[in-house]
Amino acid sequence: MPPAAETSVISHYGTPGLVERVIRAVDEACGAGPIDPKALSAIDEFHVGGRAATAYVIATLGLTPDMAVLDIGCGLGGVARYLAKACGCRVAGIDLTPEYIEIARALNERTGLADRMEMVTGSALDLPWPDRHFDAAVTFHVAMNIEDRDRMYAEAYRVLKPGGVLAVYDITKGPTEGLRYPVPWAETAATSFLVTPTETRRLVEAAGFQIVTEEDRRAVAMEHHRSRVAALSTAGPPVLGMHLLQGTTMKQKSQNMIAMLEGGQITITLLVGRRV
Ligand SMILES: C[S@@+](CC[C@H](N)C(=O)[O-])C[C@H]1O[C@@H](n2cnc3c(N)ncnc32)[C@H](O)[C@@H]1O
Repeated sequence: MPPAAETSVISHYGTPGLVERVIRAVDEACGAGPIDPKALSAIDEFHVGGRAATAYVIATLGLTPDMAVLDIGCGLGGVARYLAKACGCRVAGIDLTPEYIEIARALNERTGLADRMEMVTGSALDLPWPDRHFDAAVTFHVAMNIEDRDRMYAEAYRVLKPGGVLAVYDITKGPTEGLRYPVPWAETAATSFLVTPTETRRLVEAAGFQIVTEEDRRAVAMEHHRSRVAALSTAGPPVLGMHLLQGTTMKQKSQNMIAMLEGGQITITLLVGRRV
């Protein structure tokens, strides 16, 4: 049984009826046949910047098709499928929320990528792979839910081969005080553990990584988020969209997040570290 903090995170994401709701919407939007993974980006890229951010982050890593890559906190698997389809890598994804993994597996099948993908329910703090197993690892908007960052990055380090890279694309704490809730990753402060970009770098370095890329992606991410919200407010919710995951408080979560990006309470950080 997961510890109490992880149980609260699971109940935030794994809302009742989620699997049926998402699969029904995918069928309605995409039909019953094979699906191009791009068609799922409105729902399976649960991070600021969506698929464009995925493409940007992955392009910094220099991946080749012979590589095995781990997506830590893979959610519905949008980033993992991008790695499998666009880079041709073998991909493993792990996520705490069982419903997300059930949907991810179904979407891997529907996109014809399941034979090179493994999706596992489990914790970033206890990765079920041996030491030095992966050539690269990525984590997109997951660490905000994790208090024990030392352990998270130590686990990533353990499962990477020497020379392997870790990409961390996360929401981090900005210079202004006053976090507001709810936000897309948490209803309250009880499951939100933001740290500053400087502290994130310190934690990743302390795990043994050498930083090769460090960027503040706030401005790009904010622009992307604004245009997405504007499109939704004129067209209304599409069949496939984040409303399926975020429920009735989605608007408030989204408004709080963008207000905090604008106000400097949060920012978006990309860090790439190489395992020494
Ligand atoms: C905002 S979603 C991002 C999902 C995915 N990375 C993406 O970008 O689409 C955060 C995800 O982190 C997962 N998560 C939170 N804490 C975790 C942990 N300790 N171990 C594994 N996954 C975790 C949640 O279940 C959720 O799927």
